[in-house]
Amino acid sequence: MPSSATITTTHFTKHHQSAEEKEEEEELKLLSQECKELLLSLPKEKGWRTPFLYQFQGFWCQPKEIQSIISFQKHFKSRESDVILATIPKSGTTWLKALVFAIINRRRFPPATTSDTSRNHPLLTSNPHDLVPFLEYKLYANNQVPDLSKFPDDDEPRTFATHVPYPSLEESIKKSESVKIVYLCRNPFDTLISSWHFMKILRPESLPQFSLEEAFKMYCNGIVGFGPFWEHMLGYWNESLKRPEKVLFLKYEDIKEDVVSNLKELASFLGFPFSVEEEREGVVIQEIAKLCSFDKLKELEVNKYGKAMTFSKHFENKHLFRKGEVGDWVNYLNPLMVKQLSQLMEEKFMGSGLSFKLL
Ligand code: A3P
Repeated sequence: MPSSATITTTHFTKHHQSAEEKEEEEELKLLSQECKELLLSLPKEKGWRTPFLYQFQGFWCQPKEIQSIISFQKHFKSRESDVILATIPKSGTTWLKALVFAIINRRRFPPATTSDTSRNHPLLTSNPHDLVPFLEYKLYANNQVPDLSKFPDDDEPRTFATHVPYPSLEESIKKSESVKIVYLCRNPFDTLISSWHFMKILRPESLPQFSLEEAFKMYCNGIVGFGPFWEHMLGYWNESLKRPEKVLFLKYEDIKEDVVSNLKELASFLGFPFSVEEEREGVVIQEIAKLCSFDKLKELEVNKYGKAMTFSKHFENKHLFRKGEVGDWVNYLNPLMVKQLSQLMEEKFMGSGLSFKLL
């Protein structure tokens, strides 16, 4: 039986624990001791979805992500035929996963939405995140080390996704001449607005409200998951210039504008080029574009009511499909914000050759 003094102290501590501290305690519960100790040594800032973000290997991360990224870096071994899809969150990851899955598997699963065979297309019944797993959210999450050597042969090439910045990818991925990386980049204005909406939904109710003004300030200071956003984008951009056969750099806005030519480029890069016949008839390309379109995916039963196990137990797939437009930021950012973010981008991307379509 504890003494009354002990009870008072415990009670006192609990009573004065802020909502952030309580949530943080929950977040840290499942982490290894080693990871908890590491966190103590890392710079820490207020987070978007979790109470805090930590600066790990130069980028900002949630505690659980750090544990899985360490495990990924330590245990993953690439195969020559692997394909890695990389994005910063809210850049169209779900779309990219769908497109790449549909391209690579089009012989096994013809995408024609009108034919009988198409009824069995996995994208009609599974969320893209369940078809192309995230390395850090799924495979290496919760301190697990998956046995990826058992990946079935007919699943070659293995396709994985990640938000990890280029320098922090596992070494064999970077060293390999043949492992392919596809990076999808979205203009920072829309990525910011999409992230803010998404994080508001995922943020625990016990945490204080998260205003756009606050999100904007943090975003411009580089404090956003896997950011600073300019370093994330430039990391992959520069690598795509150095090794174009290894890293394909795509833009969300370009795919929106001309899906067919982007699909052709993507298919060739992946080593699954469309045949002369496929290109001449155009049906397969059009069907892939249609199958993976925002309107099609959003209306599927699995994406309206289903739950992908990737993000959290209670995560609903419908939150992955909000507007899917270019330029929605005009409805949220005031002129001063537009000026500030434009100036920041000019400064950060100057001389890199990387530019964005905002509308
Ligand atoms: P908005 O919030 O601007 O609507 P991610 O998949 O990386 O989480 O990115 C989510 C963003 O991509 C959301 O943007 C979402 O609506 C949009 N999106 C999802 N599926 C899409 C698709 N098939 N085509 C175009 N955009 C899509």
